[in-house]
Amino acid sequence: MHTEGSENVFAASRYCPITTTRCAITFPANFLWGCSTSAYQIEGSPLADGAAPSIWQRFAHTPGRVRDGDTGDVACDHYRRYAEDVALMGRLGLKAYRFSISWSRVIPQGAGAVNPAGLAFYDRLTDALLSQGITPMVTLYHWDLPAALDDRGGWLNPDAARWFAEYAAVVFRKLDDRVKLWATLNEPWVVTDGGYLHGALAPGHRNLFEAPIASHQLLRAHGAAIEAYRAEGRHQIGLVVNLEPKHAASSLPEDAAATQRADAYMNRQYLDPVLLGSYPPELEEVFGSAWPQWPQADFALIRQPLDFLGVNYYTRSVIRCDAGSWPVRAAPVRQRRALYTETEWEVYPRGLTDTLLWVKERYGDLPVYVTENGAAFFDPPTVEGDQLEDPLRVAYLREHLRAIRAALEQGVDLRGYFVWSLLDNFEWALGYSKRFGIVHVDFETQRRTPKASARFYSSVIASNGAALGP
Ligand code: BGC
Repeated sequence: MHTEGSENVFAASRYCPITTTRCAITFPANFLWGCSTSAYQIEGSPLADGAAPSIWQRFAHTPGRVRDGDTGDVACDHYRRYAEDVALMGRLGLKAYRFSISWSRVIPQGAGAVNPAGLAFYDRLTDALLSQGITPMVTLYHWDLPAALDDRGGWLNPDAARWFAEYAAVVFRKLDDRVKLWATLNEPWVVTDGGYLHGALAPGHRNLFEAPIASHQLLRAHGAAIEAYRAEGRHQIGLVVNLEPKHAASSLPEDAAATQRADAYMNRQYLDPVLLGSYPPELEEVFGSAWPQWPQADFALIRQPLDFLGVNYYTRSVIRCDAGSWPVRAAPVRQRRALYTETEWEVYPRGLTDTLLWVKERYGDLPVYVTENGAAFFDPPTVEGDQLEDPLRVAYLREHLRAIRAALEQGVDLRGYFVWSLLDNFEWALGYSKRFGIVHVDFETQRRTPKASARFYSSVIASNGAALGP
């Protein structure tokens, strides 16, 4: 599309570029402006009140796995400071807050006995949010599998779907009277790619044969949780995936084919089975003899009607064929004239418009939330009382918010947008070295300082988008 000789597999060239779009529309009156977090990244106190370890607790305590030996033992201490954090969300004017539930607080062994004291934390959190008029969106699984279930094979075990649905039903029974938006899994691609294929994330396996099995069991678990919700719940439930446009680096046929493989592997591997009932054909090419044939009945379980789709968007990638890049044989090409974030992701706002339009075109008119979007940039140290300026993050948010406005204008049924993240937090294998928050956290004192990006986002919310300008 923009890159010379590149071809966008999201076929964005058919849509008007956001830079030339005159936005006549405003955001819908009930648009949900929110922030996202996840349990292990902010809560701390991982073993409090009867909780048992998750795979992330175990992984972070394994030497060499997380940068600087960081762990989530304290993180943002949100488990103990949630009331203060919710009050801060109220002051920022958030309309919604997306958080995840730690399975091993609720059912410490993953299956079997429920721990009421663990569940009670989420009960208190939900009430605190509602008392501020903030709509909760609850994610059931944001990567922290109970360690006891990993000992039983984790996501490789076909029983995982049943374990997950039973856990989900416990949470639904407790919170569905007040929680109206639910997500089953956060980013199954990252769970598999990081946890079972490349091993950079918990549980740290590196196994070509395990990866498609883990993905499939995650999708069965998603389907089983939706079934449980239809029996227990009265509101809305969906799935959260991370999507990333893949653009070919050149017009060479091998680059085009590599781009298709990369797109199938990251974007269509999860959405096709959930929304269309089958895997993309390129996956057999990617996994070769490790690609299993699954019983047709599994797809009936996986393909449950969704109430909405959650899209996490951070960047795009430009792809060239690379035989040495295992196993997709596709490598990203760094762009010379582009801005990159601290996690080495290209800032590419129009990819968000294109992604939302691609979802609409390929999968139909599903209600959509942008459930994560944000950036890690270096933030200067602060002295108490100082304003914290983060101009790159402000610009990132402004441009991506304009990008969702362009998608709305082009007919996407977009219901809300959540910044990743409310707070600087534990950035998985990168520990505390990368800051995504619009609120700065001093990890020595736990002092929270809203950054310029928080003030900017507040003004966007207060004006329902008018502060974005034309
Ligand atoms: C995840 C978050 C993570 C963020 C930034 C997303 O993939 O859902 O947990 O912190 O990206 O890496």
